[in-house]
Amino acid sequence: MLLPSYQDFYTELNNGVSMPLLGLGVYDMYNQEAERAILQALEIGYRLIDTASMYTNEVEVGNAIRQSGIPRQEIFLTTKVNDSDHGYDEALRAFENSQRKLNCEYIDLYLVHWPIKNKRQDTWRALERLYQEGQVRAIGVANYLEPFLDELLPSAAIVPTVNQVEFSPYLFLANLLQRCRGERIVLQAYTPLVRGERFNDPKLLSLAQKYDKTPAQIILRWALQLGVSTIPKSANPKRLQENFDLFDFSISDTDMAYLATFNEDYRIVPSPISML
Ligand SMILES: NC(=O)c1ccc[n+]([C@@H]2O[C@H](COP(=O)([O-])OP(=O)(O)OC[C@H]3O[C@@H](n4cnc5c(N)ncnc54)[C@H](OP(=O)(O)O)[C@@H]3O)[C@@H](O)[C@H]2O)c1
Repeated sequence: MLLPSYQDFYTELNNGVSMPLLGLGVYDMYNQEAERAILQALEIGYRLIDTASMYTNEVEVGNAIRQSGIPRQEIFLTTKVNDSDHGYDEALRAFENSQRKLNCEYIDLYLVHWPIKNKRQDTWRALERLYQEGQVRAIGVANYLEPFLDELLPSAAIVPTVNQVEFSPYLFLANLLQRCRGERIVLQAYTPLVRGERFNDPKLLSLAQKYDKTPAQIILRWALQLGVSTIPKSANPKRLQENFDLFDFSISDTDMAYLATFNEDYRIVPSPISML
């Protein structure tokens, strides 16, 4: 019997495009460090890279992808519209800029980074146009809690493929997850490791001990078993490998249910709800 592996954890987006559930987030890495970490991640086997115009490392992401020698179609590349680039024409221009900086044939997924008040709907029309013109393989949103979906979906020509939100056992957005599943939108967890701030939680530590895994591995595996995409960031070779070693164990149904009780509404990033 073949052992489960990274390839077993791909999901099909609502437009038929295939996306790995586990990716590398590249917020807060720059220059040589970013190139080296992304190259290492690709060598380890990561095939999804999540960047953003805001992270100012699109050039390095593109460099690492080209240097890796991995065929472009094996890599899933996400970038995002910056907050200062909202609006129809502005978002179209922002996409061109990201494409130029990344310089690697095409972008797989283009996301609205943050639901900027009074502008997000025009931005979404621009993304729809990019998709309809075949300039990008998929479009989606980030930080769209339910009220933002309530606003977007009735008027959208295209349902977002992905909704990237802060999500962890400590911020378990069960209703949003259910809603996204119902709309065939893949939920993608950002800040999935809570930037390490809950790694000392005794409940998490006892699960880690039980499975002989690290707290990070428990949290990431939990997301994968929920069918939630997860994009931990690391620029450290050891932790890049650790965050990828998720395929030789599985969490029991009982412990999945237990993890669902860890919620503390614990946020790293301020809630986007202030944009309503
Ligand atoms: N759409 C949005 O608004 C939004 C907002 C925030 C983040 N994001 C995306 O989500 C990605 C991940 O979120 P994040 O970077 O904010 O936080 P995170 O992935 O929860 O945590 C990253 C931090 O944890 C450390 N770390 C990584 N693996 C570890 C491990 N196994 N053990 C101990 N420490 C570990 C990293 O340090 P080392 O690098 O030293 O390992 C880094 O300091 C971002 O990179 C970005 O792509 C999106």
